[in-house]
Amino acid sequence: MGSVFRNEQVDRVRRLAGALVTDPLEGVRLVPEGIASYFEHPVEYDVDSAWEPRLHQWLGAPWPCPERDRSRELWETVIAELEERGLAFGRHTYGQYSDADAALARAVWCTVLHLRPAVVVETGVARGVTSRFVLEALTRNGEGHLWSVDLPHPFERALRNQTGVAVPETHRSRWSYIEGSSRRRLPRLLRQLDQVDVFVHDSLHTARNTRFEMERIGRVLGPRGVMLVDDISTHQGFADWTRKTPRARTLICPTDDGEGLFGIACKNPS
Ligand SMILES: C[S@@+](CC[C@H](N)C(=O)[O-])C[C@H]1O[C@@H](n2cnc3c(N)ncnc32)[C@H](O)[C@@H]1O
Repeated sequence: MGSVFRNEQVDRVRRLAGALVTDPLEGVRLVPEGIASYFEHPVEYDVDSAWEPRLHQWLGAPWPCPERDRSRELWETVIAELEERGLAFGRHTYGQYSDADAALARAVWCTVLHLRPAVVVETGVARGVTSRFVLEALTRNGEGHLWSVDLPHPFERALRNQTGVAVPETHRSRWSYIEGSSRRRLPRLLRQLDQVDVFVHDSLHTARNTRFEMERIGRVLGPRGVMLVDDISTHQGFADWTRKTPRARTLICPTDDGEGLFGIACKNPS
């Protein structure tokens, strides 16, 4: 056990040293993240088993939702397209990161379709599953734009040519991809955008980074704005933000594969 832990530590330090050498500007930002992660702890949430009807109520949309079936079809199309290209898909297949789960993708799909946002921001692209769901929905709406901030895999460079492969050329006119960490890129992007209507956090799932992104987005979130935040149970970032923002309403949602939780936060549900 002790030697497994030591090997993991050594591996972590070696990977960090590699990132510092190849990309010093971003690599140096990983150091405080690594230190802060020692102070993280998992959070036990009460899960909202009726999160989907509640979300639709917030969005002023009907339930049962006719778009649920379309979300399932799109999910299967995305998996089939990735398989056809010989690419992996699922949990921990993008280095230590995972492609989006079907429940998160469905929440993103319904939020964008029903809210009809002008401005969507996401962090964390990888193969681009959530990006694809946002962009398909924006295309259906005939309005809106997605800005995605993404640091291509900092340790496994071979994965970098898979960035955004789930998004076909036909859906890229409403998309701006911004390369770099959210710490580095998000503040400037938010200065350019007056307001954010929908935010999807799916980048570095540490408490420090989640809090940073939610606090920055919270300042410019529109009156009916919605934040969808993946992987909230492994650290206290989402819980810290909700404690500091007592007026926000939240939903705690289980992933379809039962392996994790994502959160949805809204300033003024309808
Ligand atoms: C969980 S994956 C994203 C999954 C994707 N949203 C999907 O639907 O399949 C995380 C992504 O965030 C990137 N990333 C890691 N640290 C980041 C940071 N500090 N800022 C922005 N992106 C980051 C990873 O390289 C990876 O591309």
